[in-house]
Amino acid sequence: MGTPPYTVRRSRQQMVVDVRQGLSRSPKQLSPKYFYDERGSELFEEITQLPEYYLTRAERSLLEQRISQIISTVRPCSLVELGAGSATKTRIILDEMRTSGCAECYVPVDVSKDFLEATALQLRTDYADVQIIPVVSDITEPFELPPSASPTLVAFLGSTIGNFPRAQAVRLLSHIASEMGSSDRFLLGADLIKDPAIINRAYNDSRGVTAAFNLNILERLNRELGADFPVADYEHRAFYSSEQHRVEMHLIARRAHKVTIPEIGEISFEKGESIRTELSYKYDRPTLEDILTASGLLLEKWMPADDNSFALALARAEG
Ligand code: AVJ
Repeated sequence: MGTPPYTVRRSRQQMVVDVRQGLSRSPKQLSPKYFYDERGSELFEEITQLPEYYLTRAERSLLEQRISQIISTVRPCSLVELGAGSATKTRIILDEMRTSGCAECYVPVDVSKDFLEATALQLRTDYADVQIIPVVSDITEPFELPPSASPTLVAFLGSTIGNFPRAQAVRLLSHIASEMGSSDRFLLGADLIKDPAIINRAYNDSRGVTAAFNLNILERLNRELGADFPVADYEHRAFYSSEQHRVEMHLIARRAHKVTIPEIGEISFEKGESIRTELSYKYDRPTLEDILTASGLLLEKWMPADDNSFALALARAEG
């Protein structure tokens, strides 16, 4: 067990189960974790470079500004990165760990085996002295971490937390808290509540990259499950709700049609019907502190950007 074919089969089975479930609900939905096949990861990388998508730049500059302080207080020897994102952020953290004397292990955790292998390969050359231990895991399911040198800094960056409604976020963070020792610390990156116009622009870019990213989830189902979604007949819609403090992304069917997914069956779509593909919550300090506390994590340091667009939060496990 555990060899590549098994991993692939398991995750494919999981995808079939999730898609069947999501598309039989009303309103229909698909999990945002299915955005990130190879094409989707490329498109997301492109999103992070868009002028409208402020999140990645805001987080990177905050990290650069705060990392020496974070590393000198935590003094970590291992870095665990959940939903291992762009190597840029990883490098900022690992470089500082090295400079301050300890960089023994790097544990990237991600659902995508291919993505992890590419990341590991990239980093192994520049960080030959660091043990790189990729973990293939869906972070929304309880997962096990390999033993690594303590203290450990567990980083969950990019505001990926925003994909999870409160109850799910608490479930995920509680699991992380239960894996942390008293000297370990949790570093969270979160997008903050701001002018709705700024948020709406970030998810409706003028070049249509976000639209392509959203539509790619249907193309992926066509490629991987042999579905026959008429992708050109779907429209990208994203909007910020100031009441719920979240962006919702949808795919809207422009006409009534039926889709066949061989392992699932036939699914009917009405004209104007929506498939919700993503939630992206925006936070303020009290809301985030409440989620951390409910998860058994104590907020130690709140580090907002100067323009309050984004924040880093450093927390330790309670007890
Ligand atoms: C990676 C989940 C943080 O919610 O902003 C970007 C994904 N969706 N554009 C986000 C995303 C549309 C992103 N996260």
